[in-house]
Amino acid sequence: MRKRIVAGNWKMNCDLSETDYLLSRLLEQDLDPKVEVIVTPPFVNLYTAFNLLKTSSIEVAAQNMHFESNGAYTGEVSAQMLKSVGVQTVILGHSERRAYFGEDNALLAKKVSAALGNEMTTIFCFGEELEDRKAGNHFNLVKQQLQEGLFHISEKDWSHIVLAYEPVWAIGTGETATPDQAQEMHQFIRETIAEAYSTDIAEGVSILYGGSVKPNNAAEIFGKPDVDGGLIGGASLDAGNFAQIVNAFQ
Ligand code: 13P
Repeated sequence: MRKRIVAGNWKMNCDLSETDYLLSRLLEQDLDPKVEVIVTPPFVNLYTAFNLLKTSSIEVAAQNMHFESNGAYTGEVSAQMLKSVGVQTVILGHSERRAYFGEDNALLAKKVSAALGNEMTTIFCFGEELEDRKAGNHFNLVKQQLQEGLFHISEKDWSHIVLAYEPVWAIGTGETATPDQAQEMHQFIRETIAEAYSTDIAEGVSILYGGSVKPNNAAEIFGKPDVDGGLIGGASLDAGNFAQIVNAFQ
């Protein structure tokens, strides 16, 4: 069976004391043990988070990284550095990185390779903007994001990949894709992977949905056959709400 995963993307939120508070509250929650739970504090608090969560099953991931291992790249952080503070997983390709920091598919392909080269797991994000959907171009665009950013990897690399479909129009807007829209796209993603690789790989990869997932809509979205969990923004900043989402699988 595919892994069920709920990851909280904290984005640029929570200073040190807020990180400590949120994780302490999270540790008090009863979380479904069948769900892999991930939190992603900003870089400066990863080490603190790792230490706070060391004895729990909650994992710590980073929100981004550079593709080089070290050198003159002011302001950047490498895979090796993340691993040195206990981080094994990284989000790559988030739409905010693409939109505000100019990250394109070619750059993301390099970052994915760097993560794989360091035996890290990548949560690879992609998704269309509202104009793409209105123009009926959303399937083509998603396929292109996968082909150019991810499909250079080998078959064996797929065990280190989690996908996160996040329609940009649903992020932070309160507007979610309907469960049927999510299912339709997730099924398309699996078909695209099956064509490029194999049915086994397509059926084995976890595909998360992201975009305004809340306690009141998570169960219906997670109930769809090709949705294996969620990448949660705003609602991951409240331990009670996040726990309800983790526990929303039927
Ligand atoms: P929201 O849940 O706040 O819409 O954010 C989704 C997201 O961008 C997760 O990566």
